Amino acid sequence: MYGFRGLAIPGPTNMPFQIRQAMDVPLEDHRAPDFPDFTLPLLNDLKKIFKTQTGQVLIFPGTGTGGWESAISNTLSPNDKVLASVFGQFSHLWVDLCQKFGLDVDVVDTEWGKGVPLDKYEQRLSADTNHQIKAVLVCQNETATGVTSDVAGVRQILDALDHPALLFVDGVSSIGSIDFRMEEWGVDVAVSGSQKGFMMPTGLAIVGVSKKAIEATLTSTLPKCFFDYRDMIKANVDGYFPYTPATTLLRGLRASIDMLLEEGLSNVFTRHNYLAEGVRKAGSAWGLANCAQGPEWHSDTVTAIVVPQEFDANDVIKAGYHKYGLSLGAGLSKVAGKVFRIGHLGWLNELMVIQALGGAELAMHNVGIPFEPGVGVGAAVRHFSEIHEIQVIAAE
Ligand SMILES: Cc1ncc(COP(=O)(O)O)c(C=O)c1O
Repeated sequence: MYGFRGLAIPGPTNMPFQIRQAMDVPLEDHRAPDFPDFTLPLLNDLKKIFKTQTGQVLIFPGTGTGGWESAISNTLSPNDKVLASVFGQFSHLWVDLCQKFGLDVDVVDTEWGKGVPLDKYEQRLSADTNHQIKAVLVCQNETATGVTSDVAGVRQILDALDHPALLFVDGVSSIGSIDFRMEEWGVDVAVSGSQKGFMMPTGLAIVGVSKKAIEATLTSTLPKCFFDYRDMIKANVDGYFPYTPATTLLRGLRASIDMLLEEGLSNVFTRHNYLAEGVRKAGSAWGLANCAQGPEWHSDTVTAIVVPQEFDANDVIKAGYHKYGLSLGAGLSKVAGKVFRIGHLGWLNELMVIQALGGAELAMHNVGIPFEPGVGVGAAVRHFSEIHEIQVIAAE
């Protein structure tokens, strides 16, 4: 194949040249006397991305799944009750992990296309007068369906009921791309990974932990070793790690944080919304439904587009991949064959979005899905031009 392949999946995302270059360094001594000069500011600056002042952010070799596991194994004990909701493959997998760890999970099954049901959380938590629920799980951005949930809303419920449960948030496909406020929302464990909003290769679980979560490690009896927060925190105090850290990835993470802070988090979020809106406009112009069932659920990092019933979304994905060199995200589990996903997060601009939309049009046209070629791309072009005009006028 000639030319670049397109990567329009919701992670791993496109990697900026600055990050690649930052990682093109000789391997280094992770016990060197001056290693903390690099790691201490890195750990400190991560707090700005998570927006926590009193908590801290820990970096483990791993992935988002490791981050999920760390939240559970560090703070809870066998048979502890947790409240969770399932509305997509990732919210499902976190519940599955909890069950494998022997937790008693109260699962609120929710329609795929909607997010955390605040009313049902409210009911469950207000009925729990003797505080049996030890942790509440929220998947902030369900990557399988392109649905964003209201984390602040869950915090309000807990506060209004004076319920002491820990609040755990899966921010794997949201942190660093859409608004996330660990301190303000009283999040006790916030889980992320390196390969999405951080624009890096896969390989790091990046986990924000509150003081309350750290205190919970004192009473938690689930087995913990590799992801033990206490070992990590003890070593991190001096800028070191309890085992060999992924030094090359840490160099990339430094460049990633610098890019995010230089753009400014609010600008990062605005850019994601602006690009996402272009994708949503394209979907409507194609006459295809968004899997997210309403604007309140729309994700600014990924959109799952529902193909007409008589078509198989996997055929669109295969055509995109084999004929045009474009990777679109597959539908997972319940929505397999029904949706294809366009990831629109990380290092991304209008041209890259238009490339993905153009590729989706080529692939859909190829498999015979009826639409007027160009309408989706055209809708995005109009959106980007109009908003660009507004931004230029506002800046003047
Ligand atoms: C929302 C969400 N949570 C968790 C995960 C699991 O992360 P990982 O694949 O890095 O283990 C993913 C992966 O895509 C995800 O999108």
